[in-house]
Amino acid sequence: MLDVAAPYYEPVGHECELFEYAFHQKLPLLLKGPTGCGKTRFVSHMAARLGLPLQTVACHDDLTASDLTGRFLLQGGETVWTDGPLTRAVRNGGLCYLDEVVEARKDVTVVMHPLTDDRRVLPLDRTGELLEAPDDFMLVASYNPGYQHVLKSLKPSTRQRFIALELGFPPPEQELKILIRESGLPREKATALINLANRLRELKGQDLEEGVSTRLLVYCGRLIQAGMPILQSARAALVEPLSDDEDVRDGLMETISATFGG
Ligand SMILES: Nc1ncnc2c1ncn2[C@@H]1O[C@H](COP(=O)(O)OP(=O)(O)OP(=O)(O)O)[C@@H](O)[C@H]1O
Ligand SMILES: [Mg+2]
Repeated sequence: MLDVAAPYYEPVGHECELFEYAFHQKLPLLLKGPTGCGKTRFVSHMAARLGLPLQTVACHDDLTASDLTGRFLLQGGETVWTDGPLTRAVRNGGLCYLDEVVEARKDVTVVMHPLTDDRRVLPLDRTGELLEAPDDFMLVASYNPGYQHVLKSLKPSTRQRFIALELGFPPPEQELKILIRESGLPREKATALINLANRLRELKGQDLEEGVSTRLLVYCGRLIQAGMPILQSARAALVEPLSDDEDVRDGLMETISATFGG
């Protein structure tokens, strides 16, 4: 059931097949990968492709279990139970996507434990319900292992409830397709930008926390395609967002000028 309106996603391996197997086998899926590598796009693409409604929750450390499951709200003098996004997906079927799941506190992540093992149930203490997840319910979580520190990691008992997939930056050929498609940049300019990105990525680790993302490349391509000079576009999209350190930025600009001249 391929939905033609599915957001564009360029596969880099067999991740679409893996996602479909996971969905049909009712296994929760954990996506790992650096910022801007396509995790969110992948999930919206697969939701549309499988014809599933998508509930996305951006996790943070103030997120409570009730934010996920629901709460009683005052409505015209009455208290009415209102489902949270997780409960909605369990009740009606569909995909629940917990973005940056490591940001959620451990007492919050345990809410999904009975949902992510073979029980596939969600107990709602407040309403006394025990919801059984329908066949078309799937839980997907994602995080960036790069800036994870000791306090922000998933408990093994949470991690080991998911099958996991690492997404990295796409290989040059796929990234070129993505860049052309997302920015409208002609092939020749896009190729030069991809080569540059890979040169900049080699500098990662020395002074940079993360290499330039596919997202930033698309931004850069859009600026260039809109008519902004290449060096200015590169500074705004590929240098400033990556570092506040002047020496690091100068180093990046040097590589860029050496590639594009100027
Ligand atoms: N495989 C891909 N197919 C199509 N577009 C892609 C792909 N990978 C990256 N992109 C492009 O990169 C942009 C950023 O991707 P996305 O927002 O999915 O990243 P992310 O991994 O969710 O990042 P974050 O961890 O910061 O949320 C997308 O809007 C899209 O333009
Ligand atoms: Mg995302």
